[in-house]
Amino acid sequence: MRILMVCLGNICRSPLAEGILKSKTNTDIFIDSAGTGGWHVGQLPDARSIEVAQKHGLDITDQRCRKFNTEDFDNFDIIYAMDQYNYRDLLSLARSAQDKQKIKLILKESGASHLDVPDPYHDSKLGFENVFQMLDKACDVIANKINSNEL
Ligand code: 4NP
Repeated sequence: MRILMVCLGNICRSPLAEGILKSKTNTDIFIDSAGTGGWHVGQLPDARSIEVAQKHGLDITDQRCRKFNTEDFDNFDIIYAMDQYNYRDLLSLARSAQDKQKIKLILKESGASHLDVPDPYHDSKLGFENVFQMLDKACDVIANKINSNEL
């Protein structure tokens, strides 16, 4: 099972999603993250994401930003979009119905009424802790599904 977390910049939300899901699953599940935009390629996650992860006992400083590419459709079974913009961007890159089927909105997993993980990059008031909590809930559901072979 190979799971890819995708947001816009791959420095705030998807690195957290990657770190959180890794902490809830064993190593035979391969988890990675990428951004639809390439502005920060090669960089560490945003310091605010590193900080909130650390607060919850997770170290995400091994991660480096990379840009999503269409080969990711071949290399992953499930591609989780953090918000509906990422979802639409990914759909527009899909080459086939099979690619499209792999794309899911991560918050649909936790049955949230609001389906976007808010982008906290330009507005910290949206809250990195809030983002962490939303992703933690969704990743609990995903990890449970993995463990019961429902994914
Ligand atoms: P992310 O946040 O998609 O959660 O990583 C962003 C990071 C950087 C930018 C946008 C969103 N940016 O425009 O550089």
